[in-house]
Amino acid sequence: AASELALSRRQSVYLVGGIVRDLILRTPNFDIDLVVEGDAQPFANALAEQLAGRLRFHERFKTGVIILPDGLRIDVASSRNEYYESPGALPSVTVGSIKRDLYRRDFSINAMAVSLNTFELLDFFGGVQDIRDRKVRVLHNLSFIEDPTRMFRAVRFEQRYEFDIGDQTLKLLRRARDLDLLQHISSQRIYDELRHMLNEEYPSRHIARLFELDLLRSLHSSMGFDRKTLELVSSMEDLLVVSDFLRMEDLRRDVLYLAILLRSLKPEQIIDIPLLQELSRRDRQLIALGFSRSAELLQCIHSEGKLWRKLRLVSQYENDIILLAMVRSNSQQRSWHFLRDYLRSYANTLPILRGDELIKMGVPEGPAVADALCMLQAYIVRRGNNRPDRDEEELFV
Ligand code: CTP
Repeated sequence: AASELALSRRQSVYLVGGIVRDLILRTPNFDIDLVVEGDAQPFANALAEQLAGRLRFHERFKTGVIILPDGLRIDVASSRNEYYESPGALPSVTVGSIKRDLYRRDFSINAMAVSLNTFELLDFFGGVQDIRDRKVRVLHNLSFIEDPTRMFRAVRFEQRYEFDIGDQTLKLLRRARDLDLLQHISSQRIYDELRHMLNEEYPSRHIARLFELDLLRSLHSSMGFDRKTLELVSSMEDLLVVSDFLRMEDLRRDVLYLAILLRSLKPEQIIDIPLLQELSRRDRQLIALGFSRSAELLQCIHSEGKLWRKLRLVSQYENDIILLAMVRSNSQQRSWHFLRDYLRSYANTLPILRGDELIKMGVPEGPAVADALCMLQAYIVRRGNNRPDRDEEELFV
């Protein structure tokens, strides 16, 4: 549709950025970025109408987002040239303007475009070759100085695709890092990049590389390389990625990893970290207190004998704390298995009776109701697992 529209409106339109890179790499990517030469708004309007999408357009930045009925997003931007070129502008001028737009981008692999008018691939800076060579390279020497968040992005693309940051690019990155430029960048922009990394599928690789390049000091000055931290991050990654039993929709991966990364700091030090001001109060509290609360949970379950009592205890903790507790213990330990079983089945088992029904049946209002519900839950799960009856009786003693 975008291509037909580009042709009928006689406007040059390009698919740009990450999606072009991922098309070449044959990696799925559902973020469609279009650059329109000239004024993007009328084009975006027409495209939104044709696709029955909703358009939000920012007049000031000349960019818009179309949200399609199925949730897919299309970003539409005006190429950063004069928007009001004469309609009869020469083709070379047109090409020049997309080239300038691409030259402003971070890495050669992200600075390619596909013309939706001719379906030609525009690769002015060797992006295809760098994909072949598996290299992340900046387009010019000032790239990290112009935008220091690109230091994080270099690591992100390097680790995500198992590429290498090119030698010259690495030199420039180290030089920019030593200039302490991040202190002039808004916390929101830095946190956005960090969040992207921590939400990648395998953040342990990204974090290891950030340690190696000493980039985590932007989070807190004490954040030097630490093997134990990396081990804990890997355990969390195993839980979230390798194990298929976790289907927790509202899990904030970035927050969980930060709770691990910052576990040695005092809560008051964590609450003051500028970068974390972007997070909600709840998330900051989880980062500040999550690790110690998980220790407390482990202690409690160690000292409880009965299954239903353990269930009752664990049900008072959020899933995030339970995951942190699993990361602290290890898979050889009984507590680890108990917590895994809890997340896998107990937490999802609906009791056959509700609290109000138990009260009607005579269970006194108050903690006894929750106790009884946990007993029932333990009973149902055990029965579902076909355990011997002997066990079931023991639950209620
Ligand atoms: N870009 C840039 N410099 C930045 C951020 C973005 O040059 N600091 C450019 C890159 O060309 C990038 C595009 O804007 O490809 C879109 O940015 P973003 O969505 O952050 O990156 P993607 O490449 O789409 O990455 P992802 O696959 O993680 O969405």
